[in-house]
Amino acid sequence: MAPMALDSPNFSEDSTNHRDGLALEETSDAIDKVNLLKASMRVKNGTATQADVDIYTASQFDAEKDKTQFRQYDDACDRVKDFYREQHTKQTVAYNLRAREDFRNNTRGEMTIWQAMEKLNTLIDESDPDTSLSQIEHLLQSAEAIRRDGKPAWFQLVGLIHDLGKLLFFFGSEGQWDVVGDTFPIGCRFDANSIIYPGTFTANPDATHEVFSSEHGIYAPGCGLDNVMLSWGHDEYLYLICRDQSTLPAEALAMIRYHSFYPWHSAGGYRWMMNEKDEGMLKAVRAFNPYDLYSKSDELPRAEELKAYYMGLINEFFPPREGEGERVIRW
Ligand SMILES: [Fe+2]
Ligand SMILES: [Fe+2]
Repeated sequence: MAPMALDSPNFSEDSTNHRDGLALEETSDAIDKVNLLKASMRVKNGTATQADVDIYTASQFDAEKDKTQFRQYDDACDRVKDFYREQHTKQTVAYNLRAREDFRNNTRGEMTIWQAMEKLNTLIDESDPDTSLSQIEHLLQSAEAIRRDGKPAWFQLVGLIHDLGKLLFFFGSEGQWDVVGDTFPIGCRFDANSIIYPGTFTANPDATHEVFSSEHGIYAPGCGLDNVMLSWGHDEYLYLICRDQSTLPAEALAMIRYHSFYPWHSAGGYRWMMNEKDEGMLKAVRAFNPYDLYSKSDELPRAEELKAYYMGLINEFFPPREGEGERVIRW
C-alpha cells in the first residue's frame, strides 16, 4: 500500500524528547563564528581560498576593528573548544559503525521536506534574542541568496535543506557532538594541520590504535571520499537520506555531505584521499560554503510567501510516489 500524505509528521516513539534545541543551536552558531574567524585569519595571512575571500568580503568581518566582536569570538572559542573536546573523544570507528548500523535498521519518522523544516523550527526554539535566526529563516536565507545569484534549481534546494539533518538531535543522537561541528575522516590519523583543536583527541582510543592512528589507516591513497567514513553528524545523515530518496545530482549530494568538512574544503587537509570525482566535488562544496556562513546576516525571508516556489523545487527533486501529494521521506 502506498503511504498516505500526512497531515502532521509521524515521529517514531519518543522522538520529541526533552532535548535542548536552543543549546544545540548556540553551539552550532559558535562553531560558525569560529569558522568565520578562521577564514578571516587566512585572508590576513595570505593563505585564503576563494571561498574564504568571498566570506570575508561578504561579511566584512574585521575582528581588530570591533573589540566587542572579538570578545564574543573569544567566548565562542571557549564554548567551541569544550564541544570539540567531547566530539574528538567520542567520534571513533566503533561509534561510527554503530551509528550507520542504527541508521540502516531504523526509520526515525516519516514526513515531507516542508514538515521537516517546520519540525526543526519548533524543536529549536528561538526564544533567545541573541540567537539570531530560526532554522527556517537560515534555510530560506541560504536558498534565497543562491537563487538571487542565478544558480540552478538543485543548488537552491541544497540551500533550503542542508541543515535538516539536525533533526537527528531529536531522533536519539547521543548528544550535540554527533550532530553538529566540523567533520573529519574516521579510521585514519586525525590530521593535526587541518582539524580544529587537534590537541583534544588524546582521550580518543583511535588516536593510539595501531591501524587507525597511522597516516592512511584503513584507506588507500586516492580511494575517493565516497569510500571514506566521515564523522557522524547532520551532514552524513541527510546525505544518506538524499542519496537514497531524491534525484539530486552528485554536486548537490557533495554540498550536503561535506558542508561541515572544513578540514578538507577550507584547511586543505586529506588531499591524499581524493580521486578525480572529488576534485569537482570540492569546487561545488566551496561554491556552497559562503551561502551557509554568510547569508545569516541578510534580511529576513517570509516563509509563507516563499513556500509555493520552494514546493516546486522539492517536488522536482523529491518526486511524489503514486498516491502521494508530496513525497513522504523516511527519516
Ligand atoms: Fe550545517
Ligand atoms: Fe547551515
